[in-house]
Amino acid sequence: MTAPAMRPERAGRTAPMARRTHGIAPAGPLLKVEDLVVRFSTHEGTVHAVNGISFELESGETLGLVGESGCGKSVTNLAIMRLLPKPAGRIAGGRVEFDGLDLVRLSENEMRDLRGKEVAMIFQDPMTSLNPVLTIEEQMVETIRAHRKVTRAEARARSIELLGMVGIPKPETRLRSHPHQFSGGMRQRVMIAMALSLEPKLMIADEPTTALDVTIQAQVLELLRDLTDRLGTAVILITHDLGVVAGMTQRINVMYAGFIVETATTADLFAQPSHPYTVGLLHSIPRLDAERHEPLIPIEGAPPDQRRSPTGCPFAPRCAWRLPVCWTDNPPLSPIVAGTRVVLTGPDTTHRIACHNPPTPEEATAGMPLRPGFIAAPPPGVVVDELAATLDLSPAAAEEVVIMTDEGPVSTAASAGGLPLPPEDDQR
Ligand SMILES: Nc1ncnc2c1ncn2[C@@H]1O[C@H](COP(=O)(O)OP(=O)(O)OP(=O)(O)O)[C@@H](O)[C@H]1O
Ligand code: SF4
Ligand SMILES: [Mg+2]
Repeated sequence: MTAPAMRPERAGRTAPMARRTHGIAPAGPLLKVEDLVVRFSTHEGTVHAVNGISFELESGETLGLVGESGCGKSVTNLAIMRLLPKPAGRIAGGRVEFDGLDLVRLSENEMRDLRGKEVAMIFQDPMTSLNPVLTIEEQMVETIRAHRKVTRAEARARSIELLGMVGIPKPETRLRSHPHQFSGGMRQRVMIAMALSLEPKLMIADEPTTALDVTIQAQVLELLRDLTDRLGTAVILITHDLGVVAGMTQRINVMYAGFIVETATTADLFAQPSHPYTVGLLHSIPRLDAERHEPLIPIEGAPPDQRRSPTGCPFAPRCAWRLPVCWTDNPPLSPIVAGTRVVLTGPDTTHRIACHNPPTPEEATAGMPLRPGFIAAPPPGVVVDELAATLDLSPAAAEEVVIMTDEGPVSTAASAGGLPLPPEDDQR
């Protein structure tokens, strides 16, 4: 099938021709990611950045994408937007459907037209989206006119309205300012105004407030939530901070090493975290519930080197719940209650995890296995060799996976984030 002709620059919001050409009915979820695989070719080998993830998003839904640095949050969204750095990055498999369009197969011109107009992205650093040498007026008016059939005066009036909506005082005057004349928080508001200027159906916000101080961060996030609520915009909010997604999203995907390891509504995830990695993440952030004043426990060890092809559960080297099977078989995402019908979006989303041996609710609260005699399965020889190479240890030292700390016996790379192992009495 040949690629459809480029849509005219100022075509309307819908593109029935393009949809028909790609043969996908525009019914169904707004975004459907199916078995997405992303690889980077580097001098040091292939990086397995995203390893076959699937998720869906309905119009107006807000989804958090959470996980430690390097787990594939940004790459997932750059792949959706077809903005992977070239030539190293490529979509090596899977499908991305947006509003009935097959994004993996769209031409570059069609993608360019879609970006900004249908899907907008905002980043941690507003200067990646704002042009430092142009005034806000020049940038906003041009963006609006590039995608909409409106006069300059109409585009200007809309820009003033949007700056007002995001809380910029005296928007008529500030429109003539350059980006550097705004404070960090105000620049972030301008970026949100610009991203929303075309009323996109989907907004992807990649760590949008990480660089701001906590109070401004809360204000900007609240603003983003109010505006996207009002406009019915679907949102993917990327953050390493579970605290941020708690108040901002309806659903959460927890990512680890390029996999989704837990997915649930935000309420279910916080009520019953069920994957050892999520449990580790929750124990490493301050909780707002007053009853808990336990010390924060960082997740010990580091995510795996993604130049290795994934074998077994990627979290196994850090997991206190692991079984021998975890070293060899990576479990698929499955409902936490076996046999449940799987719902992928909305308030009835099925809570699913990828885990052979999930913590019980009591263990999740305690942050450690509570089963008498249970010890995490030691790594097989090949893993010890890899561990030795990764950590630059001798094989003998790599086998010494359990070390003593002030808090008791804690394993290094072989535990769920430094969570104490069961008391020695229970291990016998
Ligand atoms: N240009 C690139 N070349 C090679 N590898 C890359 C490139 N960009 C990302 N990666 C790799 O892809 C994986 C996923 O990276 P990604 O940027 O998505 O992480 P992230 O979850 O967004 O982390 P952070 O919280 O630090 O932003 C990492 O292993 C990273 O090293
Ligand atoms: S119990 Fe096994 S499958 Fe589950 S997170 Fe731990 S290592 Fe992975
Ligand atoms: Mg990132």
